[in-house]
Parts: sequence; structure tokens; C-alpha cells
Amino acid sequence: MTSASNRGVFIVIDGIDGAGKSTQVQRLCDSLREQGFGVTQSREPTDGRWGKMIRNSATTGRLSLDEELSAFVNDRREHVSTLIQPALGAGQIVIVDRYFYSTVAYQGIRGADTAALLSQMRAEFPIPDLTLFFDLPVSVALQRISETRGEVPNEFEQEDSLTEIRKTFHQMAAECDEVQLLDCTPTMDAVTADIAARVAQVLASRQ
Ligand code: TYD
Repeated sequence: MTSASNRGVFIVIDGIDGAGKSTQVQRLCDSLREQGFGVTQSREPTDGRWGKMIRNSATTGRLSLDEELSAFVNDRREHVSTLIQPALGAGQIVIVDRYFYSTVAYQGIRGADTAALLSQMRAEFPIPDLTLFFDLPVSVALQRISETRGEVPNEFEQEDSLTEIRKTFHQMAAECDEVQLLDCTPTMDAVTADIAARVAQVLASRQ
């Protein structure tokens, strides 16, 4: 699939944990709604049956790589056909928190072939009009995670994983035209303004 090719505008926010993604996604949706745009806000994993299965696996025991991959892909198939495509067809701005880039980065570190996975994902699923990868140094991300969750991430492996995940996001940013890296080290308000400017540019180019 080459582009979302609908009347709506498809925006994805993705990237490593600890960059303030959830807050910024909410701020962006609120601001666009205040400006009078029709906004459909969603996230992956979804709250559908596959998404629930994935979330449950966090407590009931992690799935094998193959099972996990197919759960994320099935979840996305359902998400695209039941929500994303219909909303784009209806002219909405669709904002999704995480998408196929997370599959490449997170299942990639479990041993999936990232290049093959990326081309498979791009062939099957709609390509966003704009994708922002929230980015910041892993040490800062870990610090923010421990501040907001009140726990000290003490596993070296976690730092290694985040470093690997960030590297994969950087590779995808270099390869995918729709992707822009977003530096999340400035203040939350500065990042909010940066996102608003980039989104405004895409909206202007679609008029
Ligand atoms: P979630 O609780 O929504 O976390 P966050 O607020 O960080 O988005 O859980 C999402 C987790 O699922 C996150 O750690 C990334 C992971 N994930 C994958 O491993 N593969 C995927 O395809 C997607 C969409 C998410």
C-alpha cells in the first residue's frame, strides 16, 4: 500500500518508552478538536480481542515471538479495517499511538528480521501521511520512566533493549519518507509546540 490515499489525514506517533508519548498524543488530539477538526484517536495494541490477549500476556506469561508477532499483526488488521480506514474515508484526522514501526522495533529485538518485517508491514498496511518518532537518549528515557513510575529500572538488560529499540527506530526514520524524528529532550510544552507545527504543515499541504 503506497499511501493512506483517502480524504482524511493519517498521523502516527511512535518511538521508545519514556518520551512522554501519551501526554503529547492527548494534547495534540485536544488541540485539533478545539480547532474544529474531526479527530479519531486510537492506539495499538487496541482494546479489541487481540490487543487484550497481548496485554494479558504481560501478566500471564509472554507469548513466543511467532505468537506475539501474529497477535500484533492480527490486531492491526482488525484496527485498520474496522477503524482506521473507515475514519479516513469519512475525512477524519486519525491519530494512532504506536503502529507497525513498533512491531519492527520491539519484535525485532526478540530476533525477527527487521528489514523483512518493515517491508512486509509497508506492503500490507496503509502508510501514514506523517509519522513522528519520539526520540531521546536512553539514559534520559530511563530517568523519566523511574520518575513517573516511581521505580528505579535496575536491569542492565532493559537499557540494552532500549538502546537496540532506539537504533531500529533511527534506521526506520532514515528509510521511510513519512517519518520524522522528534527530539523530546526539551520541555513538554516546547515539544507540544514542535508537534503542532509539524502537523500544521501536513494539514496545509493537504488543502
Ligand atoms: P502500552 O501499555 O500501550 O505502552 P506505551 O504507553 O509505551 O505505548 O504497551 C505497548 C507496548 O507494546 C510497548 O511496550 C510496545 C509494545 N508493542 C510491541 O511490542 N509491538 C507492537 O507492534 C506494538 C504496537 C506495541
